Amino acid sequence: MAMSADDIQKGRSAWEKFYANAEDNGAVVLSRMFKEHPHTVSYFKNFKELQSMAEKASSVELQGLSEVRGHGKKVLSALNDMVQYLDNMDSLKKVTEPLGKKHAVELQVDVKDFDIIFTILLDLLGEKCGGDAKTDLKKVTDLLYEEIKSTY
Ligand code: HEM
Repeated sequence: MAMSADDIQKGRSAWEKFYANAEDNGAVVLSRMFKEHPHTVSYFKNFKELQSMAEKASSVELQGLSEVRGHGKKVLSALNDMVQYLDNMDSLKKVTEPLGKKHAVELQVDVKDFDIIFTILLDLLGEKCGGDAKTDLKKVTDLLYEEIKSTY
């Protein structure tokens, strides 16, 4: 369901705080996902260092890997594109559709893993910027999750 203008404004403002530190925040989100949900490591077959270290390394050690930092930036940059289109569902779908299909068909990522990554992202935002920012961004991630799920 489309968001109200007020929810979009609050959601964007929360997102901007998170995105201001895209590389660090992206790396923290991915490394927590890899440690807390180890099955997610197996999707990233091209990330050789991650594959060799994930089991034994700490979350902080994983955050330092260039593979993790680079990919974290890519993920956050894709989310940033989506946030620009919250007020235009047609344009939003032009971003979420190919991304959802790529993850569903080519990468064979379980759609529930999107719920996992969004939960980790929201928790990190809450730690850094407080509960209001988390509540505001949750309306955004709920919408994005629904859009991505609809492409599966
Ligand atoms: C927040 C939601 C997510 C966003 C915005 C996102 C975004 C992206 C983007 C932009 C790419 C690069 C696509 C390309 O090169 O064409 C990518 C690749 C990939 N994503 Fe996601 N992703 C998300 C969630 C996930 C989740 C939950 C998983 C699995 C747990 C996952 C696994 C992968 C894998 C395995 C690749 C390929 C990596 C490589 O070999 O370079 N993604 N993702």
